[in-house]
Amino acid sequence: MSVLLAALLQLAALQLSSALPFQQRGFWDFGEDIDVRDLMMTMMKDQEEGSAFEDVYPPETPTCPFGCTCHQKVVQCSDLGLIYVPPNIPPDTLLLDLQCNGITEIREGDFKGLTNLYALILRSNLITRVNPRAFLPLKRLQKLYISHNLLTSVPRNLPPSLVEMRIHDNRIRRVAAGTFNGLGNMHVIEMGRNPIHNSGFEPGAFTGLKLNYLRISEARLTGVPKDLPASLHELHLDHNEIQAIELEDLSRYKQLHRLGLGFNHILHIERGALSYLPNLRELHLDHNRLSAVPSGLANMKYLQVVYLHSNNITSVGVNDFCPVGFGMKKVFYNGISLFGNPIEFWEIQPATFRCVSDHMAVQLGNHKK
Ligand SMILES: *[C@@H]1O[C@H](CO)[C@@H](O)[C@H](O)[C@H]1NC(C)=O
Repeated sequence: MSVLLAALLQLAALQLSSALPFQQRGFWDFGEDIDVRDLMMTMMKDQEEGSAFEDVYPPETPTCPFGCTCHQKVVQCSDLGLIYVPPNIPPDTLLLDLQCNGITEIREGDFKGLTNLYALILRSNLITRVNPRAFLPLKRLQKLYISHNLLTSVPRNLPPSLVEMRIHDNRIRRVAAGTFNGLGNMHVIEMGRNPIHNSGFEPGAFTGLKLNYLRISEARLTGVPKDLPASLHELHLDHNEIQAIELEDLSRYKQLHRLGLGFNHILHIERGALSYLPNLRELHLDHNRLSAVPSGLANMKYLQVVYLHSNNITSVGVNDFCPVGFGMKKVFYNGISLFGNPIEFWEIQPATFRCVSDHMAVQLGNHKK
């Protein structure tokens, strides 16, 4: 139970940090580094929550791949200069860590018999190809970490049990129709830093997938992709080449709580475009080329954080942020950033921020100049 408690505490810490977004770097950021101990804790928690693991292979003949460390169903083979997935991985393995090797290819039989595997770490290798049948034995795989490789497409036949996939920093240009066929509910897909254009998402690429969090930062997107899962609560498209938000661009994403569009080239957000996001809590539009506060913010009942710093906004109207009537806004703002804009700040009427929790929540601060 202490393991469960520790895992819960950890989870609580994460949630706490996401509850104070304005003081953080930004959104709850799924960092690049994977802490294997953290992962084990989450794994044990998931197990205690009842997904029964098969114990069909009694561990009477302990094996461990040459050079690896095998302990309590965790097989660690990182930094060994491996070119292929090694043989003799114990069939009851839950966590297989192959990061930082020189693996170039995942072959058909590489994960044969690993029906209990929960997490597979393949990040920082040289993988160009995953055999389309390689993942078929992984009937319980929930976490796949394959960032920092040389993949040009998302592997086929992903395990239907998958909950989290990080495929950041590869060479993916195309996400084929049906890539996520058979996957029901996923929590996280991180696929930033891939040279993907809007046209790289084939129609139906995400068909059938329910997904909570998607990040496609540092790609080559020139607009908001139209065909992402409608279930998204968080969408991060920062560091792309998006130039405008058209009226219908966000109409599919009504569930969004957080939307990250910072570090793009957005000049214009069409009037009404934000009205499709009634549940939005947090909006990042910093480091764009906006010349005005986007219209529609005042009608967003739950919006608490808006980043507009480092744009080209010249003036702020008294009703740009807050509705005219009292009681229209359900939650007050706790973060509005406007610094780094050519605004004559003394011209902003104090009433502009009448629906802000306290004056510390507004950052005008041009004094850094
Ligand atoms: C900012 O807006 C002005 C017009 O108001 C324009 O002349 C200028 O080029 C813009 N600057 C940038 C960096 O977009």
